Amino acid sequence: MNAILSLWVLGIACVMFLVVLLYMPTIGRYHGKVVEAETRKNSFLIETVHGMRTVKSLALEGSKRRGWDARGATAVRANRNLALVANQPQTILQPLEKLTYSGTLLLGCYMALSTDQAALAGSLVAFTMLASRATQPFVQIAGMLQQVQEVRGAVAQVASIVNIPPEELRSDHGLRPRFQGHISFEDVSFRYPGAQNKALDRVTVDIPRGSVVGVMGRSGSGKTTVTRLLQGLHQDYDGLIKIDGVDLRQMDISHLRSNLGVVLQDNFLFSGTVRENIASARADASFEEVIEAARMAGAEEFIERLPRGYDTYLAEGSTNISGGQRQRIAIARALLINPPILILDEATSALDPDSEAIINANLTRISEGRTMVIISHRLTSLVDCDIIVVMERGRVYDVGTHEELLQRCDIYRHLWFQQNRHQNSGVPNERALSGPDTRD
Ligand SMILES: Nc1ncnc2c1ncn2[C@@H]1O[C@H](COP(=O)(O)OP(=O)(O)OP(=O)(O)O)[C@@H](O)[C@H]1O
Ligand SMILES: [Mg+2]
Repeated sequence: MNAILSLWVLGIACVMFLVVLLYMPTIGRYHGKVVEAETRKNSFLIETVHGMRTVKSLALEGSKRRGWDARGATAVRANRNLALVANQPQTILQPLEKLTYSGTLLLGCYMALSTDQAALAGSLVAFTMLASRATQPFVQIAGMLQQVQEVRGAVAQVASIVNIPPEELRSDHGLRPRFQGHISFEDVSFRYPGAQNKALDRVTVDIPRGSVVGVMGRSGSGKTTVTRLLQGLHQDYDGLIKIDGVDLRQMDISHLRSNLGVVLQDNFLFSGTVRENIASARADASFEEVIEAARMAGAEEFIERLPRGYDTYLAEGSTNISGGQRQRIAIARALLINPPILILDEATSALDPDSEAIINANLTRISEGRTMVIISHRLTSLVDCDIIVVMERGRVYDVGTHEELLQRCDIYRHLWFQQNRHQNSGVPNERALSGPDTRD
């Protein structure tokens, strides 16, 4: 309708566009700082609530509160900075928008008055209407810039989790053999992602089916790592791990794990009754089977003394039972699935000598028809093992029976005499049920 007016409107629209474009990365940066500050604040909160017992027993309330205040202040400051910056483009664009309207009117009137074009008055009205329609979206975009960045940040956060490739369970093409329990490690080396040293260095062990194997070694020598590899929790190791001659890498991981019973030093119980917890891996188990598993784990004695027996409700985090009781329920839970391979990683170290003795006494029955790997710092619980593996700095230092190792392995002998010192200096008979804990 009019070239000069069009140029005016388009010129201002270009300026507005540039303003939006220029502010986009700046607002993105400020928004990034907000996300970072909020994440720090929230993870601090979660960590502190999670470690509440430690916070209280170490009297860390004061420093934790100061830490929380500092993080809260940082988050508030970041939010304020973002709001200030996000406000700027809007503040710049609003006068510009007014300028399109009033400028068009001014220019149009001037042209209508100074020339004789009769048509101009009519088109001027149309033009002012159109001009505001053309520039308004820019003002709106500027108002939404903060939201746009929020959406981008949120999508990126979700993507960072959703895009992690899931663990490959090989459930469609993995092998599902019936397990006999012959385990062999051939030249297995492994390094945790990001770690400097190898956690396992050319480990070669052969564990015949049905045997009871003890593993000992200093803290950090790689004992737990061996069991983690056996569960298929890490795939990127060198060498070969075989169960009954089948390469672990070829196996269906869920099949593998449902055939492994694992009890760790620190076990997680779900909130629910004792019975539900013991039967959690096999919901169809009968009550008799649950009781039998509890008996073998030495747990029956205390469960029966609980106010509601097997129907006692375990609170979230199982805070209403002791550490040793939790341990025994975990052992019962592992025994209930009757796994061909059972791994006890420091499983009895939280137990009192009596409960440990019950489990040790039941060990012959527990180990019947399955392969057992027992990791322990208390050598007394390893004495009866068929073979004992001594680990040192990720390597297999020696393998043998208790007598052989006592003869030739210095690490074993050293620990044995350290744990049984009291016997040499007085009480001659009877194996000690618990030596002093020698973990570093
Ligand atoms: N998740 C991990 N990431 C990185 N390094 C790890 C990880 N877990 C263990 N390590 C390292 O691997 C080595 C072996 O650890 P592992 O847990 O197997 O020791 P361990 O013999 O079971 O010790 P402990 O007797 O204390 O349980 C250690 O040096 C440890 O620092
Ligand atoms: Mg360990």
